[in-house]
Amino acid sequence: MKELLKRFSLLSAIFCLLVACNFEEKDIRIVEDFNFDWRFKLGENPGASKLAFQDSDWQKLNLPHDWSIEGAFSEEHPTRPEGGALPAGIGWYRKTFTISEDWVDKSVSIEFGGVYRNSEVWINGRYLGKRPNGYISLAYDLTDHLNYGEQENVIAVKVNNSEQPNSRWYTGSGIYRNVRLVASEKLHVAHWGTYVKTPKVSEDKALVSYEVTVQNNSRLIKKFKLETKIYDAKGREVGKATTLEKLYPKKTLTKLSDIEISNPKLWSLEDPYMYRIVTRIYEDSELVDNYTTTTGIRYFNFDVEKGFSLNGKPTKILGVCLHHDNGALGAVANKYAIERKLNILKEMGVNAIRTAHNPPSTELLELCDQMGFLVQDEAFDVWKKKKVAYDYSQDWDKWHKKDLEDLIKRDRNHPSVIMWSIGNEIREQYDKSGTAITKELVDIVKGLDANRPVTCALNEIDPDKNFIYKSGQLDVLGFNYKHQVYQDFPENFKGEKIIASESMSALATRGHYTMPSDSIHRWPEANKEAFGNEDFTVSAFDQVSTPWGSTHEETWKMIKKLDFVAGLFVWTGFDYLGEPTPYGYPARSSYFGIVDLAGFPKDAYYMYQSEWTNKPVLHVFPHWNWEEGQEVDVWAYYNNADEVELFLNGESLGAKSKQDDDLHLCWQVTFQPGTLKAVSRKNGKVVLEKEIHTAGETSKIELIPHKESIKRDHYDLVYVTVNMLDAEGNFVPKADNLIHFEVEGGGKIVGVDNGYQANLTSFKAKEIKAFNGKCVVIIQSNGKDDDIKLNVSTDDGAIKASLEIDTVKD
Ligand code: GAL
Repeated sequence: MKELLKRFSLLSAIFCLLVACNFEEKDIRIVEDFNFDWRFKLGENPGASKLAFQDSDWQKLNLPHDWSIEGAFSEEHPTRPEGGALPAGIGWYRKTFTISEDWVDKSVSIEFGGVYRNSEVWINGRYLGKRPNGYISLAYDLTDHLNYGEQENVIAVKVNNSEQPNSRWYTGSGIYRNVRLVASEKLHVAHWGTYVKTPKVSEDKALVSYEVTVQNNSRLIKKFKLETKIYDAKGREVGKATTLEKLYPKKTLTKLSDIEISNPKLWSLEDPYMYRIVTRIYEDSELVDNYTTTTGIRYFNFDVEKGFSLNGKPTKILGVCLHHDNGALGAVANKYAIERKLNILKEMGVNAIRTAHNPPSTELLELCDQMGFLVQDEAFDVWKKKKVAYDYSQDWDKWHKKDLEDLIKRDRNHPSVIMWSIGNEIREQYDKSGTAITKELVDIVKGLDANRPVTCALNEIDPDKNFIYKSGQLDVLGFNYKHQVYQDFPENFKGEKIIASESMSALATRGHYTMPSDSIHRWPEANKEAFGNEDFTVSAFDQVSTPWGSTHEETWKMIKKLDFVAGLFVWTGFDYLGEPTPYGYPARSSYFGIVDLAGFPKDAYYMYQSEWTNKPVLHVFPHWNWEEGQEVDVWAYYNNADEVELFLNGESLGAKSKQDDDLHLCWQVTFQPGTLKAVSRKNGKVVLEKEIHTAGETSKIELIPHKESIKRDHYDLVYVTVNMLDAEGNFVPKADNLIHFEVEGGGKIVGVDNGYQANLTSFKAKEIKAFNGKCVVIIQSNGKDDDIKLNVSTDDGAIKASLEIDTVKD
């Protein structure tokens, strides 16, 4: 009997769990990954919009796709080095597909995450529309134009990125974000049809204010039950609202429900706790739509004196600006590439991202929600007044309203998004037109989301001359650079909330060092000879910046002590393609990153880590391969310790501690080969030890995958770091061997890089030279049920290495 009872309670527990987690519910709304089996061809391709057009000789590929990144670098490309020195032009995509007869009564639409740029779309030869903005997400209703059953359908997309230059950075070209096909019943939750707010949050309860728009695409009047349930992360129902509704044909209806949740678990940076809100529509008790919105419950505040707080906790915004490219993958918005990037930044202590200077991919925002990052979501780099010849200014009049509205509608449910930025260094701030446009844009934003502050990244610090500021419309004033005058802001901008929307613009090449390290250089003022940088490198001692910017230390020292500054966004977290200030071609990617384009941290990474995290840090640099007798500056970034002692070949060079507002230590050392050792101590106890050895000839290759296994889903990526080592296993800091890659089994090579800003080897090659001892190969799942084997060898075949990576079921 006891046994029976036990079994019964186990079964009922499982039953309850199944009910609670809704395992029994099938998806009514069908969301198909529409990235596979497209055809692609560059050029005008007359007639390619037509259903009957012959595309069998076109290239077969899967999206997301960026054709620019596949091209060869050249000074001649009209994108110029600022645009990455890669080709642009016109390209066409076509996809042939069939639709099941079962869908005949459904509403079917296609959703594009982003197409750069000027996309035009046809279904079966019918024109659906054009969208100039290359960063906005868009959708078209296909329902009235589809063939069902065996008869084929063709979607054709023309992408026109031929007018150049149209950007100050690399854009990529093509359908570079994900595409989905969505089929729902005629009565359904509209596209981006939900909006969640949490206007009242306390420890014991939260008010979830939820708006849902339902669309009736049928010809009949619909009567239905609209049910919304909120589930916690374990799938337990925590709140509910139900109403009975009636909706006329071809109409929409928006319903607001206030749902109270007891003991809410708040979304925070340390624990980004997410809830799911599911709206179900029932017609005569039949479920006809189920639509999920994920969200987090949190509150935040910008204070004029105390800066930013999240859930009542004072929190300095420690952010970085990011452009949208993913290095060797180009603009391709692969969520695993973005996840790796965010993981590297999280380790450094970053807690916020500014999506410079355009709407980001949804994948980035989803990851920020899940990983606990704050986001400044930015709409524009230009308004009506241009910065380069063919930029968005030419589309401003016709499109800015729709583009801004769509951005807000798409992104307003993300807990990570804490403010909207209506622009970056907008020209209109200098004249009266800025006031009117600011008012218009802020009205658009507030009309759709009055819940988040609106900011703009400004440069004009004279309050009388800044017309965007003078509009009085901004909730938070963003200032780019100018750290020298931050203390004056409370006086000059009385009663305003302030954030350093863009800072630093320090420059560095990983692994390259120029002595003496304590001289500060403001490119491009400093002359090349002083640096000896004929090889297009910039010193990675934190000593070089643009004249409008600062070194990393200069601005951080200022911002860390000013409580009224809500935080900062460093320009930039990662190097990005294009804008290779201070050089021209062959430099073709930026020097601004704290991390290089390949994902390898530059030294400044550890300065931030020592300041922005609590984990013990001791980072000593540069490498230890110099000329005998040469004077070398040795720097250490550290925290959680009272002092650091440096030893050369066992002999102490003295213990030092940071004084006043120092952020690093420095010893001048006369080079002798051997071992440099640093020891950090707290209260006399060793906290960390670090050794750097003089390396001999390269004789080994070390392969380090950034994860142990990847999914067999055609998307997952493993980045394998290639380190050049000597016979003793010491890192060889100047190694530049040409490395060949070969992959067998369940993966394919999708990119190679070494982080060198003037490297002209294609990112799509199967070989690359190590740069300052390192390179990376990116391998992607090819969907096969097979493990991956990577074989690596130097050009002469003398040094070889291999690595196996597991693939796991999706
Ligand atoms: C800023 C601009 C950024 C980038 C940066 C380089 O003025 O907002 O987009 O160009 O300069 O230092």
